[in-house]
Amino acid sequence: MNDLTDREAVRTQYAREEHLQTRSSVWRPAADGRDPSEIALAIVLASAPGDILEIGCGTGAFAARVAEARPGASLLATDLSPRFVELTAARGVEACIADATDLPCGDDSFDLVAAMWMLYHVPDLERTLAEVRRALRPGGRFLAVTNGDEHVADLRRAAGGGPVITQFSSQNGEEALRRHFDVVRREDVRSRAVFPDHAAAMAYLESSEEGITWDLPFFDGPREYLGETTVFVAS
Ligand SMILES: C[S@@+](CC[C@H](N)C(=O)[O-])C[C@H]1O[C@@H](n2cnc3c(N)ncnc32)[C@H](O)[C@@H]1O
Repeated sequence: MNDLTDREAVRTQYAREEHLQTRSSVWRPAADGRDPSEIALAIVLASAPGDILEIGCGTGAFAARVAEARPGASLLATDLSPRFVELTAARGVEACIADATDLPCGDDSFDLVAAMWMLYHVPDLERTLAEVRRALRPGGRFLAVTNGDEHVADLRRAAGGGPVITQFSSQNGEEALRRHFDVVRREDVRSRAVFPDHAAAMAYLESSEEGITWDLPFFDGPREYLGETTVFVAS
């Protein structure tokens, strides 16, 4: 299993937004038109209005879309990175620095908690899931989005690497959620990473700071690789 939980590496990776933006910018919907972020947004908007918490909010892009679609919603976005909290607040979303393993709220505080592409980073997954359960009111919903072992694995293999295997993935996330929640639903999506050229694919690989010397054979023109992403809803 790849260790994406090292606290210092996480702080360095997300001290600034450029790496995350490099990776986020390549994603396009699956061939059938489905998009994980759109599916997640639809789930939030289909929920009854109430108190919403996002953990590991990144630059606040998703929280801002929720706020725009649900003006007046009670929404709190949190992240470990001071820079990301600053960027999220600049979008007009209430935001604070918080570790997902120790949520700054009382029991039964939220109707929906969202964790988008972040549970593979937390140092103690069981404690984080217990914290989410504690923070949710009875009947509340937990939205968790993550990637699978085959996420851009063909690109990584072509460049001399291997798949990224994590503690919370399309493969093992459902089992982890079932240890804390009664009902778990899932939707699996094969999004497409579209690279305009070889340099863009190299920039994507190098943005993850894994200490690998990538060796991607040169190619001319655009190229696509498949992602593997799952949207989980637990209650
Ligand atoms: C891959 S980024 C995803 C960001 C955002 N959710 C998105 O989808 O663009 C992972 C995020 O989780 C945050 N993070 C990592 N470990 C965390 C922790 N223990 N508590 C809170 N946030 C954490 C990082 O700072 C980063 O913003």
